[in-house]
Amino acid sequence: MHIWIIALVIAYLLGSIPFGYLLVLVFRKEDIRATGSGNIGATNVARSGAKGLGALTLFLDALKGFLAVVIARHLAQQLTSPQDYKLVALAGVVVVIGHIFPVWLGFRGGKGVAAALGVFLAWAPLSALIAVAVFLAIVFLTKYVSVASLLAGYVFVVIAIATDNKHLLFVDLCYVAIPVIVTLKHHGNIRRLMAGTENRFGSKA
Ligand code: G3P
Repeated sequence: MHIWIIALVIAYLLGSIPFGYLLVLVFRKEDIRATGSGNIGATNVARSGAKGLGALTLFLDALKGFLAVVIARHLAQQLTSPQDYKLVALAGVVVVIGHIFPVWLGFRGGKGVAAALGVFLAWAPLSALIAVAVFLAIVFLTKYVSVASLLAGYVFVVIAIATDNKHLLFVDLCYVAIPVIVTLKHHGNIRRLMAGTENRFGSKA
């Protein structure tokens, strides 16, 4: 049991590192939460005019998601199957929760998209790459990063579950949990989309 606790605490703490917030604070002496959509994620960091920092935020947020799963997988090797798959799946959910509810920012963090990307790449790389292609196509066609993020998450889940031969309900539920949590955190974007006022990528908010 203690392996579960260690892996999940590591996942939460990794997820709660607010890279977008820290990078903008350190390099531009600004609070990204006061700019654009107010989100601490890569899209808003890039939107603020700091494209390089936006790319770095995307990379680091994805990396922490990826690492949380890899660390959980390493620790889980001491468990017997299928517990190890369950821990790896739950660690992916927890790192995204850590990003969305970071203890360091009063539990008000980002929307979990880049962290989810890292988790997806560690869970099922091929499915994740297909989801990335879908994401890029939707951004190209609509310029709505939020729409692309939401749809790509569900595309990942459908493909990952369809191609997963473990057939563990708990693991499948963890797969589904991430896009559902990310969707809930996009409530403001969804409201803006319905009102026709959502920010388009490339335009200032
Ligand atoms: O990465 C989050 C993205 O889906 C939307 O970001 O800043 O437009 O709310 P933002």
